[in-house]
Amino acid sequence: MTALAKKPVGIMISGRGSNMQALIAAAQDPNYPARIVQVISNRPAAPGLELARAAGIPAQAIDHKAYPDRESFESDVSAAMHRAGVEIIAQAGFMRILTAGFVQEWAGRMINIHPSLLPLFPGLHTHRRALDAGVKIHGCSVHFVSEGVDQGALIGQAAVAVHPADTADALAARVLQAEHKLYPRCLALVCRSDVVLTADGARLPPGTENDAMLINPN
Ligand code: GRF
Repeated sequence: MTALAKKPVGIMISGRGSNMQALIAAAQDPNYPARIVQVISNRPAAPGLELARAAGIPAQAIDHKAYPDRESFESDVSAAMHRAGVEIIAQAGFMRILTAGFVQEWAGRMINIHPSLLPLFPGLHTHRRALDAGVKIHGCSVHFVSEGVDQGALIGQAAVAVHPADTADALAARVLQAEHKLYPRCLALVCRSDVVLTADGARLPPGTENDAMLINPN
């Protein structure tokens, strides 16, 4: 039997790294179509860097503050990803806005997870805003990264019921659990080319059910 071809994936983080850990854990399964070959943080103090190293993944800080502009920072990020052989980038709590040049270089090969049901609540403080808006269903989305922040083609979404007594923190914690399930599924779809970015959005092959892209409240 031939071994599964695992796509080399690089992860970009800025902080805690719990979604990164979910991807690393998923990739330990021999049948998972990705191996995590590099983690890069723009913040040297990101706790996720140590977590990645503890899991045996090369992890590097590329401090954006050490660069005069976004382009030079991104050029070093791209170079490090290429050196590691990365073919697909997963952003997991990466908190820098990217230039059009970087986005275009990785177009169709770079995905992100966002803690809301996009296109609702792009940007920050999504859980507080969801509570303030009174929505009954909240959740998270994985999407291809495009030039508009949190606007790229959707790959998958997980819905989470909002409870009447929810605080933003309580809701965030439940959404985060859904993120940890959704992100590995969506990365697998992209690595298998079961989802590709087209001019019309993220597309499944004709005749394919899209259940793998959706997680509903139980
Ligand atoms: C997650 O909620 C993710 O959706 C958002 O930033 C947070 C990162 O958390 N983009 P972690 O670093 O993965 O724990």
